[in-house]
This record gives sequence, C-alpha cells and structure tokens, in this order.
Amino acid sequence: MNLSNINLLKTDSYINGEWVKSPDQKTFNVINPFTNEEIARVSEASKSQVEEAIKHAEDAFKIWRKFTAGKRSRILKKWYKLQLDNAQDLAHILTIEQGKPLNEALGEIKYGASFVEWFAEEAKRNYGDTIPGHARDKRIVTIKQPIGVVGAITPWNFPSAMITRKVAPALAAGCTVVIKPSELTPLSALALAQLAEEAGFPPGVINVVVSSNAAEVGETLCASSTVRKLSFTGSTRVGKILLKQCADTVKKVSLELGGNAPFIVFDDADLDKAVEGAVASKYRNAGQTCICSNRIFVQEKIYEDFLEKYTAAVAKQKTGNGLHDGTVIGPMIQEKAVQFVEDIVQDAQSKGGVILTGGQRQSADSLMFEPTVIANATTDMKVFSNEIFGPVAPVFKFETEAEVIALANDTPYGLASYFYGRDYARIWRVAEALEYGMVGINTGMISTTVAPFGGIKESGFGREGSKYGMDDYLEIKYMCWGGVE
Ligand code: SIN
Repeated sequence: MNLSNINLLKTDSYINGEWVKSPDQKTFNVINPFTNEEIARVSEASKSQVEEAIKHAEDAFKIWRKFTAGKRSRILKKWYKLQLDNAQDLAHILTIEQGKPLNEALGEIKYGASFVEWFAEEAKRNYGDTIPGHARDKRIVTIKQPIGVVGAITPWNFPSAMITRKVAPALAAGCTVVIKPSELTPLSALALAQLAEEAGFPPGVINVVVSSNAAEVGETLCASSTVRKLSFTGSTRVGKILLKQCADTVKKVSLELGGNAPFIVFDDADLDKAVEGAVASKYRNAGQTCICSNRIFVQEKIYEDFLEKYTAAVAKQKTGNGLHDGTVIGPMIQEKAVQFVEDIVQDAQSKGGVILTGGQRQSADSLMFEPTVIANATTDMKVFSNEIFGPVAPVFKFETEAEVIALANDTPYGLASYFYGRDYARIWRVAEALEYGMVGINTGMISTTVAPFGGIKESGFGREGSKYGMDDYLEIKYMCWGGVE
C-alpha cells in the first residue's frame, strides 16, 4: 500500500492502548472492491476481547470524565490536526477498502475531522440551567453529565466520518468508547485509532474491536450493563434487532438507519440546478448513502425536459477505479449489493420502466454497476418502496403538490428529502409537510457538521453533529436545593 505514514496501516484491534491479536490467531480478509484483491488480513477479536474492551473503557471513564473540558478539548484538537496532516493517507486507505473515488474519500476525511474540531469546541459549552424555584426556599439547578461507556457500531459506506461523528461528541462529553467498525472497512477505523494514540488519549478511552462476527459483537455491546449508550448507523433491519437487544439493560440508543429519500422537482424549478442537485444527491458514493435520493418525482410539464438533461449528465460521469484521476463513481461494496440492484432494475423493466442509460453491471465479475436512469417509474415497482443503495435513479411523473406529498411520505422511512421550486409559499408548505428529519430545498447536498443529522419514523432517532450532537451522550441531572431561607 502506497502510504507516506506506514504506521497508519494496522491490522489488530486496539484495546486499552494496546494493539492486540486474536487469542486463537483467527483473521479475516479485507478486499478492495474494485480489484477484488486482498488488501490485508485483520485479527478477529474474540467475544472475551470485546468484554475486556468494555471493562477497560469503564476504568478509563473514571479518569476521562474528571479531565476538565478544556483538557479533553485540547486532546480532541490534536486528533483533529493529525487527521488533517494525514488526510491523503487516510483517504488512500479509505478508497482501497471502500471503493469511493480518492477525491470523495478526501472529502470524507475532512468532513469526519470537522466533527472532531466542532466537538472539541462544544466540550467547553456543556452548560446546565438555573430554573426559578417552585417554592420560596427552593433553588433548582441542572447539570449535564457523561452517560458512561458508549458502544459505537459504524457502517462501511462512511468508514471514517461515521466514527468521528459518534466518537467526537461522546469523548467531548466525557464518555469512553468501544467502536465496532464494519468488517468490510476496518482499516480506516484502525488508522483513526493510531492517530488517537498519537494525540494522547489515555489508554481505554478509545477502543476499536475488529471482527467479522458483527452479530456477536453487537449482542455483547447491547447485553452489557456497563455500556450505557449504543449508537448505530446501518440498516433498519439491524437497527431493530439492536434496539430489542438494548431493552434488557434499558440503554440509551441512537439509530441512524435506512432512508427512501424523495427528490421532488416542481415545474417552476431552475431545471439545470435541479439536474445538478439530483446527480449529486443520487450518485455520491455510487448511490450508497442513507440520504441518497431514492425516488425522483418530476412534475408533468417538465418531465421530458428533465429526463433529457438528467440522462445526459448521468451518462457522462466517469466510472472506474477510485484511485484513478477523474473517476467520480467507483464500485459497489460487494456482490450481494450488486445483485440486489440488478434485481430491482429487472423488476422495474418488467413493469414498464424504460432504461435511459446504464442498467447493468459493467462486466460479469465486476462490482461496477453503470449509473442508471429509469423513466416511467411507477409505485408498484421495487424501486419505489426499497432503499436502492446503488447508482440507480427511478424517475416518477406527478401532477399536483398534494399528490407528490402523499407519494413522498408513503414510506416507513423518514431520513432525508429534497425538493426544487421557487414559489416561496409552496416551499414552506412542502418543507412542513414532508415527514422527514432533513429537507434539502434547492440543494442536493445537506450534510454538514453544523446541522443536526438524523431521521424520524423507521429511519431512527437521535441527532448527530450540530449543537444537539452531544446531548445523546449526556444525562441531565436536576438538583433541588431546599431550606434556602
Ligand atoms: C450516511 O449515509 O449514513 C451518512 C451520509 C452523510 O453524512 O452525508
């Protein structure tokens, strides 16, 4: 691997400040999804190592929570700086294990680091309240305290930023963490752990357990009464399992789950900008983000014009190896993901969908799926109700505002939504009517550190980033002072 800082390539779990191998020497492979070649063999953490990591995090919590906010902030800032100093290498690791183009990977590293910077600042603003007492001799004060040990289960689609988005607020609050990264992309997580060690976090404050047995690690984190908070980003199916497993210990839980984002284009929209936004929000990370637009709804009068411009823009995107200059769409993550997309495209075709560009994988043994546009999409197709998680854009036609709001909300998901239009009254009406945690208005790009990221309905709960992001790692304690005569 071509890295300037070879120290960033780690293949063992990081527990209590030590790099630890599997007790029985078990390993699993990390594969480059573009070349299908093995990049590394990573030690498989055992269940008892996960339990040890939890125990060490518990011990470290007693120390870390006592650090002043300023001291925690300074260590976080050092970690932030190290991430930026090593951004090229971190991006390289990310691209070869995940597939996204190098430029996009670099964007993710900076995006991820920005959460560390932000929460390094927020650590110092963990304010409580004074509340006017309910009786003459009473005084009421609240303080916010760190919840304790946090379990963070993170996905393969953002192997770096989804770690920092959870871990930075947890650490800022005074919590300690046990991170379980996706088994498909553990190297980015371990590289972050290496930088955390250099930044000077005390042993046990950050632990990373790598394992291909996600169910076992998840179950261990959920069952532990020491872990007081679980934060998970991933599918709604797995989120529901984890939520049930957390019930026995009544853990605080944050879930950032699947989406089925509508992207609505009204007939008064700036068409070129809408096309640009629809390309950006659909094909980022080869369509593999929870907030990618999933269903594009275009008003009747502009439907054909939109399709023409959109198809032309989609068809000219350069696909291929993420390490090569100019690539904007890389491979999908694994074979079963490609098969899922193949199935839903065939389903759409069999029900009258017309493929305007793309429609298939680039060659039989590759994970590259062509960027695809499907016209004449209808609600009986799988693309309407399933999260596509691939570079496929079904385009639906609608007539009225009421109709499109009903279509957009006709899903159990409620993460991101988007629309383009100019009429300001309609903008307010539609933004208020969309049952989603996030609404992009005349933009296809909504992710930023400073805004609360999260969903409603079966897309989960909790907010990441922004001034709200630390709340999920804090408990409010109320103190009632009596006898103040
Ligand atoms: C996600 O897909 O889960 C995260 C996307 C983002 O932060 O932009």
